[in-house]
Amino acid sequence: MIKLSKRLRIIHDMVPKSVVADIGSDHGKLMIALVESGIVTKGYAVENKEGPFERLRSNLIRYHVNDKITPLFSDGIKDITRDVGTIVIAGMGGLNIVNILKAHPEKLVRVQTIIIDAHNAVPTARKEICMMGFAIADEKIVKEDDIFYEIIKFVRADQAIIGEEDLEFGPILRREKSATFKEKYQTRISEIDNIIASGNLPQTRIDTLNAEKHKLERYL
Ligand SMILES: C[S@@+](CC[C@H](N)C(=O)[O-])C[C@H]1O[C@@H](n2cnc3c(N)ncnc32)[C@H](O)[C@@H]1O
Repeated sequence: MIKLSKRLRIIHDMVPKSVVADIGSDHGKLMIALVESGIVTKGYAVENKEGPFERLRSNLIRYHVNDKITPLFSDGIKDITRDVGTIVIAGMGGLNIVNILKAHPEKLVRVQTIIIDAHNAVPTARKEICMMGFAIADEKIVKEDDIFYEIIKFVRADQAIIGEEDLEFGPILRREKSATFKEKYQTRISEIDNIIASGNLPQTRIDTLNAEKHKLERYL
């Protein structure tokens, strides 16, 4: 059995039984684990860089899943088939994720689930994917190697209106208030305190930092 990091395990556990395309598959670990756990019997592992693609292809063979998972040397969702029901895009910037999804809207028509792990611009990713006709069904926050990751599962929805606070903090995360969620924002509050204490900041900058701090405190 392939070993997954905490972050990839959370993504794995969000994937429904479906034809899955993992965009930016790199080592292919997620797709291998999904086959091993019986969640996926057909899928695509997409990579657009030669080195990772070669590693991906050999890992699929090594773990005997190459009859179920097709490696695609391709850009984003361009070459996935129309039977794909779930798209996973993990380990990229939020804008890159959005651009990948927006580049081929015709490939999203039958997609029911999108799971993302955006390393930045998370509010933008939430907003843009909701505007594509999806709603947030699940969210988890995890800390690995001192980095906080927000993993978001979207499902197709008729209407997905999402407010500013939900975009920024996550509709599920901000209600659940897990220990990791609190730690993320407590860490930021401590950073703000240290920046202000280091001195020599213009008053406007101090006011902005204090406003951010007070906003964060409301969510702890
Ligand atoms: C940091 S790795 C993340 C790997 C894995 N998804 C994970 O979360 O552990 C991002 C991978 O996405 C690939 N990638 C970036 N943009 C891509 C695109 N437009 N199409 C396919 N792959 C892409 C990169 O080559 C890289 O291997």
